[in-house]
Amino acid sequence: MCNVFSLKEIFSSVGMRIAIKKVYEILNEKRLVFMTIQLKEELKTLDQKHFLHPTTSIEQQQTQGPAAIFIEGNGIYLKDIEGNIYIDGMSSLWNVNIGHGRKEIAEVAKEQISTLAFSSCFASFSNEPAIRLATKIASLTPGDLNTVFFTSGGSESNDTAIKLARHYWLLKGQPERQKIISRTHSYHGVAMGATSATGLQAFRDFTNSHAPDFHYVYSESVRNLRETIEALGPETVAAFISEPVQGAGGVNIPQKDYFKEVRKICDEYGILFIADEVITGFGRTGKFFGMEHYGVVPDMMSFAKGVSSGYVQLGGVAISETIHQDLCELSKGTLMHGYTYSGHALACQVGLKNIEILEQENLVENAANMGDAMLEGFRALQEKYSFIGRVRTLGLLGAIELVKSRETGELFETALSPIFVQETMKRGLILRTVTYDQDTVVFSPPLILSRVELDEMLRILDETFEHIRKTIVEKNI
Ligand SMILES: Cc1ncc(COP(=O)(O)O)c(C=O)c1O
Repeated sequence: MCNVFSLKEIFSSVGMRIAIKKVYEILNEKRLVFMTIQLKEELKTLDQKHFLHPTTSIEQQQTQGPAAIFIEGNGIYLKDIEGNIYIDGMSSLWNVNIGHGRKEIAEVAKEQISTLAFSSCFASFSNEPAIRLATKIASLTPGDLNTVFFTSGGSESNDTAIKLARHYWLLKGQPERQKIISRTHSYHGVAMGATSATGLQAFRDFTNSHAPDFHYVYSESVRNLRETIEALGPETVAAFISEPVQGAGGVNIPQKDYFKEVRKICDEYGILFIADEVITGFGRTGKFFGMEHYGVVPDMMSFAKGVSSGYVQLGGVAISETIHQDLCELSKGTLMHGYTYSGHALACQVGLKNIEILEQENLVENAANMGDAMLEGFRALQEKYSFIGRVRTLGLLGAIELVKSRETGELFETALSPIFVQETMKRGLILRTVTYDQDTVVFSPPLILSRVELDEMLRILDETFEHIRKTIVEKNI
């Protein structure tokens, strides 16, 4: 006898219910994928029309749209709108030191916003988070760098340091000391003073009208520094500014004695020494501040990025007790320098929590240990691939140079590093390149990086090097 089911029976059978659920799930997934594509297309069009991106190829943005639209961050990982997950091998812009998605920061920020998000710090108004953070930073910075001026980022910090140095000499009765000396391959930001101090020519070529009184010395030449000071006239030089390790210029780690020599020369000629710790500050190099590797105390130290791990915009300049004392004695009337957001209560409270996390989780020590392990990993890759030139790390700041010939240092005609980082991105690792006079891949992962995560980074690097070897290097392209 033929068995005829009623519709009710068919839909009530367990197998059928599972099948229908599956069909719904697939349809739903397809609908979500379709909606995501639609959303992505919409955002891409709006991005191209309305968003002028910082430090971006406009041509590339207009032809291809955003390289990724991120929607979430968690630990060392970022997720884009299509659901792709990436290791943030650069801590985004060398800044998300404590990693993404920290709920503790969110809680502190929520609390501070509902209590007091902002109040003025002009005309000696103050707030507790700014006072506490200035005090905390003073306790961390080396030597007598014990007084802090707050800004919203690195460029403002360097402009502030430059202006404070010049102002200092005005107060000291040496108004001719206005010149600022910086190093080739340095990067100090894009405000007018910071751009002018930047040694990477391409940033200065962005406009053809430059601030006066900026001079550059060959990157690591102490002799050139002395000669330049002599040629300019020591009595006309206000300050020398340098990153402890140049970041955007290629993660260039100076010789052990370089800054000792610099300090000596600055002291000899009475020139102020400004350390730009915007990248190197707050644990990046395996010490709280980069200058600690060199046993040197600068007269001013500019910072940003890692002070808040990018959760809010924050930066500042720590000045020595000597400078502060002179300012206290000689300054009459108003200090005519200040940003609306100098001493921003919310930003400072987040900064405090960020530093607490760095300390409680021993992230500075972790950066030192993982940095050593990262160097070992780089060296293993160097043994395997002949087109890897020099490799280096200081804490979790690292670089791998790509060369056609290790012996001569000759570079490939077309830089390999931009192709390399596109390929690592396809494999889930975001990195960055430096191609001014070099072909370098740079690294700056979050300081929370674990051994397992580092191994995953190294695995992706190995796979990508293998791909580049087969598809480009061996084909002599
Ligand atoms: C060493 C250094 N100084 C200053 C800056 C400028 O900081 P910001 O972009 O926050 O203005 C940067 C930014 O990358 C930097 O690396």
